[in-house]
Formats: sequence, C-alpha cells, structure tokens
Amino acid sequence: MLDAAQTTDVQAETLLEVNNIEVIYNHVILVLKGVSLTVPKGGITALLGGNGAGKTTTLKAVSNLLHSERGEVTKGSIRYRGESIHASDPADLVEKGVIQVMEGRHCFEHLTVEENLLTGAYTRKDGNAAIQQDLDLVYNYFPRLKERRRSQAGYTSGGEQQMVAMGRALMSRPETILLDEPSMGLAPQLVEEIFGIVKDLNEKEGVSFLLAEQNTNVALRFAHYGYILESGRVVMDGPAAELRENPDVKEFYLGMSDEGRKSFRDVRSYRRRKRWL
Ligand SMILES: Nc1ncnc2c1ncn2[C@@H]1O[C@H](COP(=O)(O)OP(=O)(O)OP(=O)(O)O)[C@@H](O)[C@H]1O
Ligand SMILES: [Mg+2]
Repeated sequence: MLDAAQTTDVQAETLLEVNNIEVIYNHVILVLKGVSLTVPKGGITALLGGNGAGKTTTLKAVSNLLHSERGEVTKGSIRYRGESIHASDPADLVEKGVIQVMEGRHCFEHLTVEENLLTGAYTRKDGNAAIQQDLDLVYNYFPRLKERRRSQAGYTSGGEQQMVAMGRALMSRPETILLDEPSMGLAPQLVEEIFGIVKDLNEKEGVSFLLAEQNTNVALRFAHYGYILESGRVVMDGPAAELRENPDVKEFYLGMSDEGRKSFRDVRSYRRRKRWL
C-alpha cells in the first residue's frame, strides 16, 4: 500500500528541503530569519541576493559548517530525502550525496591539480578503477584541468581553481552540489564557461545544484528556479524564466527596466528607495 508521501508529488522528487530556518551567530546576531527553500531532483536552484544577504550562511546551515563560525540553526528544519540532516557532519553528508563547494574555491595550493582532484575521492570505497574512471569524467568536463593536471594548484588561474574545486566535489559522485558563488572574481567569458559546465553536469550526469550567486543575470539564465534573499529573508521566488521577466528583478537585480538599461548610479539610488514588503 502506498503511504501519503508516495502518493503525492510523483514527478519532481524533492531532495533538499529547508523549512523556515533561523541562524544566529555568536548567540546574538540573527542572520537568517525564517528561510525556506527546496531543491528538486535534477534541478538547478539559484539562491540570489547581494552582499551579506545570507546565501553562504544558508549553504553552511545545510552542510553543517556553521559551528566553526560560532553559528547555529536555532529554528526550523533541514531535510534531505525526507530525513533530518541537522546532525550530519560534512562527511556523513558526502555519503548521502551532498557536497559543498565553498566560496573562494579552496584548493590545496601545494598539491598538483590531479592530487587535488583525488582528495575528493577519499570517502570512496569502490576501488582505483572506478576512481580513475571518474577522474577521466572530470577531465572530460574540464579539459583545462587535464592540460594542467601536473601543475601545482596554487599557480593556476582563478578560473582553473574554481574548476579544481568543482572537479574535486565531483570525485565524491555527488547527487547534489551546493555551489557557493562560482562566478566570483572571474572574467565574463570564464563565468559562461563554468555555468555551461554546471548545465552539462545537470543534464548529462543528473547532478542537482543549489547555487548561491550575486550574479543574478547569469544565474537566472542557467537555473530552473530562483529564490531572492534580502537581509536573511526570502523576498521573492519563482521559476527562473518568470523572475527574469519580473519588473522588480529587472530593475533591482538585472540593472534594467522597461525604459531600457539603467546606469549603475540610477539603480543604486532606486535601491535606497526600494521596499519589498
Ligand atoms: N561568522 C560570522 N559571525 C558573525 N556574523 C557573520 C558571520 N558570517 C557571516 N556573518 C554575517 O551574516 C550575514 C550574512 O552573511 P553571508 O556570508 O551568509 O552572506 P552572503 O549572502 O553569502 O554574502 P556575499 O555575497 O557577500 O558572500 C552578513 O551580515 C554577515 O556579516
Ligand atoms: Mg557568500
């Protein structure tokens, strides 16, 4: 007999479900004020918002990385495949199929590109042949990394380091990648390249993404669904195509309005007057 959970929602299985979470740093600083979001299987979900909106905090709440920052989830729940992951450490999460690629693309600078990638396979128990196969898969998606595989990671470019960080995550065979600000500090062409790879991984390998980005324009072109965070609250959410056409999003996040493109100065002065609520 089917239970209620099986009879509802047969098409888009929900992988990650963040329900009304509150996060406090240092016991007093309330940063997330009731954030809810879901990531369906096979989806690219964007978490958008400006500096300090709470994107990284949300990802770290999911992957249980807040303790080292004196942060704590004080309300709400976080579930993966219906199971609470509140107490799962990052290694448990990797086993469940969830991995975070941190903001600022941390690599082991003194290791080569390939050694960095292999560190991502440390939880694997399926032997060298399978690991080698996945290394080939990573090189297939990131041909630049193949070229640079013997180079010391610390001497590769910012874009290559972002690719190393993503490639290393792939080596754990994740079902869902929490990807924090992949576009940060990269030239537009490289940003396109990296988002193109995200799309390919999503479509061909079935990897789901929760993607934190300030770059609304790029993120909404590649994501299926978006949430906009401001000061620790979701102020708007919807299918990416709808958000792209939303006049407020156009004006405040894409720097455009119906009268055409506005200058950055105009947008800034509008920003000061803006009220979502
Ligand atoms: N360890 C910490 N202790 C205290 N406050 C923190 C800590 N980390 C972040 N914050 C605060 O929490 C808020 C949200 O920060 P967060 O890093 O989640 O934002 P973000 O959306 O990722 O921003 P950015 O786009 O700049 O990366 C900010 O006001 C920030 O100052
Ligand atoms: Mg951040």
